Amino acid sequence: MALLPEVVGFDCGSDPWQLEVGKWLSASVELGRDSAAWCCENDTSTWLYRLQETNELVGFGSLGQTVWRVDKDKHPVQILPNVALAKLFHGQPADADPVNRYSRLVLRDLLREAFQRRRAGAPALFGLFVHPNNIAAIRLYQAFGLQLFPQPAKSGYRQMVRYLTTADGELNRLPEWS
Ligand SMILES: CC(C)(COP(=O)(O)OP(=O)(O)OC[C@H]1O[C@@H](n2cnc3c(N)ncnc32)[C@H](O)[C@@H]1OP(=O)(O)O)[C@@H](O)C(=O)NCCC(=O)NCCS
Repeated sequence: MALLPEVVGFDCGSDPWQLEVGKWLSASVELGRDSAAWCCENDTSTWLYRLQETNELVGFGSLGQTVWRVDKDKHPVQILPNVALAKLFHGQPADADPVNRYSRLVLRDLLREAFQRRRAGAPALFGLFVHPNNIAAIRLYQAFGLQLFPQPAKSGYRQMVRYLTTADGELNRLPEWS
């Protein structure tokens, strides 16, 4: 993704975990996975979501691959490095059925892409890191079948994970460490 100016200046809120998104978008490539620039140079796809009527930027999402080490085992993972909605669109449309909120539409789209990649041979695990106080994000991910790792990562962030099955796209089984 070319880092479009409108994404670099993206406002998704002022809580510490929300400010992290801005840092991720503008961080230098040397920070590795903690920067969008590195992710984009390393096979991470990023999508911008816009309102059809006005072209207004609602949010963005991303999807890549990594390997998680759990105990001594290595697990290939399709990772969601970051996802965010512009502050204006949090909880919106307020009068919509919750399943049709922008947050759910974006997550559904990212998961659909991950399922497609799974069918093409990408890892069956889908995972991400989330700030422990980011309740809106955690609830959103839980609504899509992701479960929290019991222990926080060294960074203090929480890992969340789910399996993608090729058969019916539904949750199959979760790894022992979830
Ligand atoms: C994470 C994010 C995309 C979620 O979008 P959103 O529009 O805020 O989410 P929703 O309004 O659909 O809320 C999701 C759930 O959390 C709940 N929720 C939202 N804010 C909450 C809060 N402050 N406290 C408790 N629950 C909250 C909602 O009620 C909803 O629960 P439900 O599905 O059971 O009804 C959005 O908040 C965002 O862009 N945050 C900044 C960037 C970010 O944190 N990205 C995640 C990186 S891991």
